[in-house]
Amino acid sequence: MMIEYNPQYNQFNLYTKNNQLSLSVLPSGHLVLLYFGKKVSSESLHYYTNEIKRASYLADTDSTKDFKLEQFPLVYPAYGNPDMRTPAFQFTYENGSRISDFRYKTHSIFAGKKEIPGLPNANTNQEVSSIEIILQDEVTKNEVNLSISCFEEYDVFTQHIEVFNYSEEILKINRIMSANIDLLSDKYDLITLNGAWGRETHIQRNRIHQGYQGVDSKRGASGHGQNPFIALADQSANEHYGDVYSMNLIYSGNFIANAEVDMHQNTRMQIGINPFDFEWTLLPDKSFSTPEVVLVYSNKGFNRMSQLYHQFYLDCLMQSRYSKKLRPILINNWEATYFDFDREKIVKLAKEASQLGVELFVLDDGWFGKRNSDDSSLGDWEPNQMKLGGSLQNLIQEINQLGMKFGIWIEPEMVSRKSELFKKHPDWIIQVPNRVPQQVRNQYVLDLSRAEVQDFLIETIDSILSENNISYLKWDMNRNITDIGSRVLPMDRQKEVGHRYILGLYRVLDTIVSKHPDVLIESCAGGGGRFDPGMLYYTPQIWTSDDTDAVERLLIQEGNSFVYPPVSMSCHVSAVPNHQVGRITSLKTRGIVAQQGNFGYEINLLDITDEEKMQIKEQIELYKLHRETLQFGTHIRLSVYDEQNEVAWMKRDEEKVIISHVYRLAKANTVPKRLKLCQLEEAAVYYLEGTNRRFSGGELMEIGIALERPTHDFYSSQWILTKEKQKEVNGC
Ligand code: GLA
Repeated sequence: MMIEYNPQYNQFNLYTKNNQLSLSVLPSGHLVLLYFGKKVSSESLHYYTNEIKRASYLADTDSTKDFKLEQFPLVYPAYGNPDMRTPAFQFTYENGSRISDFRYKTHSIFAGKKEIPGLPNANTNQEVSSIEIILQDEVTKNEVNLSISCFEEYDVFTQHIEVFNYSEEILKINRIMSANIDLLSDKYDLITLNGAWGRETHIQRNRIHQGYQGVDSKRGASGHGQNPFIALADQSANEHYGDVYSMNLIYSGNFIANAEVDMHQNTRMQIGINPFDFEWTLLPDKSFSTPEVVLVYSNKGFNRMSQLYHQFYLDCLMQSRYSKKLRPILINNWEATYFDFDREKIVKLAKEASQLGVELFVLDDGWFGKRNSDDSSLGDWEPNQMKLGGSLQNLIQEINQLGMKFGIWIEPEMVSRKSELFKKHPDWIIQVPNRVPQQVRNQYVLDLSRAEVQDFLIETIDSILSENNISYLKWDMNRNITDIGSRVLPMDRQKEVGHRYILGLYRVLDTIVSKHPDVLIESCAGGGGRFDPGMLYYTPQIWTSDDTDAVERLLIQEGNSFVYPPVSMSCHVSAVPNHQVGRITSLKTRGIVAQQGNFGYEINLLDITDEEKMQIKEQIELYKLHRETLQFGTHIRLSVYDEQNEVAWMKRDEEKVIISHVYRLAKANTVPKRLKLCQLEEAAVYYLEGTNRRFSGGELMEIGIALERPTHDFYSSQWILTKEKQKEVNGC
């Protein structure tokens, strides 16, 4: 068992292969965090919290002189007791009180892990042990159940909270974090993934300071501007060294992730549903579960942290049959045609693509209703036979005959103002009484908190997938939620809409995925506006960004790879000048950058030269040859000499190592430095493809490979190394 309980000290030790989380119950019944980090051998750590020196002017706990709860590293701090830092939760009771006092009641330890109904969460197929610690409020008899699971092999802990209302009163939940970690230092940098539409997941690193800092979303989705991820890292930590404590929330809606440094240089880190505009009414005998959080500690810097997330998500979170299957190379017609297509154009594009080796054709926006621009028809999911030159089945057949699979775009959560669906059900949208709802991109958001709306979506998507030979679905969501309100919820429960929307979305996704397990679903929200573990649970790939420029993508993909498996990021080669930023980069660089993830094209192949077609054909052949390593190899971000101007990464598996390096700008008269590789076997021998050179792993890591001199801006290089088989090394 990976979880031990020491009754003498009321201490819980939770272990994974290399890491440890230790909690204990103080004599007062408060639950404290003794330790989170690398496994340490110790019989007990109970002395640790007793040795904290007392500070002045903090309130006493239980009227006991010098028992200052505010100085303790707490596990799930309440509001209204002598800990006056930001609480992990806050409830309002019928008598107007907002004060809670939860203390240890009991616990149970068991093999396996319980499901969280209605919410995506890590699965139980793997070796896992869990503990449930029940805290109870003596006055109300309500309980908080803290569930922590240890995924031994993955070095990952997960946690979620369930609140039970055992009183006879209504309980209002105003704040309920999924996790709280108190660390007794402030010598950290705060790392978050920030940006905007077209500039998602840029790594932001700042020194923490006294006060409150972090990120949150109020958009109804996790958002382009922030990601439900937060980490505290040693100030000296880098890709390869140093302690990192991180949290990633399995949730796709409004969230908060924050760090608070108190008056005595201790740091509190939290993540959970955003308490802003949230309030849940919990009736007697009912319970409420938070989303699950994934807690990852690394003592070997960011690469190790990322690798732990990647493997865990591939093996334990992503439910799709495709999670660990090789993904097809696709062409998407969006940037090639936008709305301006007919059957002839589509078939010509598909033909050209199939000749170059592309395996899947994706028909993007514009195939249904009267949709020839973004001003109509969302909700009317009937194929536009005029535009498609016949039925959808018929078009699919023609594409299939070219030897390609067929995929289609849909934006199910939306309705256009100009649509039959809106005429029929104007009340189905998210809106508030007495106000004109905002249109964004000429569309409204359907109220997915309502069961009949969910059922309509399930029926619609199910019939599209059942009636047509569709292998892939791009599930888009192109606006954030304004005017938040639902017609069917009572006035005093309107603050539940945001969370109920996400629960409704998960129900629809869950039903579609179980009915059509063979359809590969890619989610999208105007690019990476909902790139989070909640969506990854259902959809094993996500459109990383609407910005397809290779140079912009370097930052976006680097940040994304911080947490999410690279095979889940969809990356396409697009035209130059690039449609978002007007930049001209070589086809080679566009290819190398897109190969960092799940590869495809979004380019008008009818509009390029024969030479470019040849190059694309070669790119595709190379990707197919090394697809396993490129999609599922261990992803390592490499250190470069000039971080402002260079980005490098490698993918490694048992047989191959693929190294990619990109310069942003070329500079005159520079002498390129060497690029050192990492995480290779020191004594193994590696052959460099295209040469007769051999290197030892040690050599590649300590001396590195010589970089080329950039002859133009956005210059890129790629090296492929093949590992000599073990038996040859040993000579047997
Ligand atoms: C969003 C997506 C694009 C494309 C368009 C279609 O912006 O991110 O890839 O599908 O919608 O309208």
